[in-house]
Amino acid sequence: MSRELRDAFGCFATGVAVVTTRYKDEDIGMTCSSFNSVSLDPAMALWNIQKDAASLEAFHKSGGYTISVLSASQGDLAMRFTQGEQAERFAGLDDQRAASGRVIMPDCIAWFDCDLHQIIEAGDHDILLANIKDYGCTKHGAGLIFERSQFGSTQLSKVA
Ligand SMILES: Cc1cc2nc3c(=O)[nH]c(=O)nc-3n(C[C@H](O)[C@H](O)[C@H](O)COP(=O)(O)O)c2cc1C
Repeated sequence: MSRELRDAFGCFATGVAVVTTRYKDEDIGMTCSSFNSVSLDPAMALWNIQKDAASLEAFHKSGGYTISVLSASQGDLAMRFTQGEQAERFAGLDDQRAASGRVIMPDCIAWFDCDLHQIIEAGDHDILLANIKDYGCTKHGAGLIFERSQFGSTQLSKVA
């Protein structure tokens, strides 16, 4: 069931983001494809964290997170934030930070700086619902897409 369900979920193409926080004076980050918009007024967003993530406590207790939406050319950066020690993930990156002090990924196409609003337990994940405090985006630039366990990029056409 689980393998097949994972494959079925994988048919839903998503963007790819790196979500960061700061906890006990350390930068924490991981790659996430579960980011989504929730509400325009008030501005709200969410993502889901697996309950066995090493950074679960940090994302629960730090009070907020910053989402960086990756560009089509940032597959390597996405993979870097899925493995290794936290310090290695951030090593050598430009130190660009939101007003909250959390890291924004260099050359991302959009970012959202969020205060944690509610943690909703949902099976083997927790939904981290947040209020967006600040954000920015580029006018152009294709996003990194994740579909069927592969990275790709968008091919845009006008919505009729
Ligand atoms: C494309 C992609 C999307 C991912 N999306 C999520 C996600 O939404 N939530 C999550 O908990 N893990 C997600 N992961 C897995 C985490 O990035 C990975 O398990 C990471 O090592 C967790 O870091 P930590 O265990 O050090 O906290 C994703 C991985 C990839 C490659």
